[in-house]
Amino acid sequence: MILHDFSYIVLPPRAGDLAEDVRALLEANDKAKTYRHVRDVAEANAAIARRYHLDDDKCRAAALLHDVSAVIRPADMLAWVDKHGLPTCEAERKHPFLLHQRLSRVMAEEYFGVADVEILAPIECHTTLKENATSYDMALFIADKLAWDQEGTPPFFDAVSDALNHSLEAASLAYMDYMVDNGLLLCPHVNWTAAQGWLRSL
Ligand SMILES: [Fe+2]
Ligand SMILES: [Fe+2]
Repeated sequence: MILHDFSYIVLPPRAGDLAEDVRALLEANDKAKTYRHVRDVAEANAAIARRYHLDDDKCRAAALLHDVSAVIRPADMLAWVDKHGLPTCEAERKHPFLLHQRLSRVMAEEYFGVADVEILAPIECHTTLKENATSYDMALFIADKLAWDQEGTPPFFDAVSDALNHSLEAASLAYMDYMVDNGLLLCPHVNWTAAQGWLRSL
């Protein structure tokens, strides 16, 4: 199990309630701020679910779990994928924190026992998105950005919210274009580039 590879991670007892178990794990590892963020993302993703007729419970679960790998140190993320022979792209090697989306999926499966791909797949691409993303993928991608983990309102909030009135695809592209057009992308991940090209082609 992935978390047994990191001796510093505290594993609290589990109650069997997803929100409670995510809270306990994050707070036991000094990530209370991350818990507040994922709780906000869960509300934002549930609102998107209602608007776009997606399964509310799946959207909440994906949101609660999307950043659980915050309990793993970024430097350890790269070592872990290398140790397990998993491929990485240039962006992940330069900025190992990008790997947190993949490791959160592994934790969702191995620690939280989630098997539903409509919960797991959005977790795995919530930072970069990917080509041919599903509605569940795009919903979490957008919810994570609208309920971001920094102070105040995101500068792209109005553009993405307006586009969300049109479609999940338009909102995803509005965020990606904002980031690229304003030079805010640290290093383009292969999945990000493919997703942006795909969305533009629709
Ligand atoms: Fe994240
Ligand atoms: Fe997040």
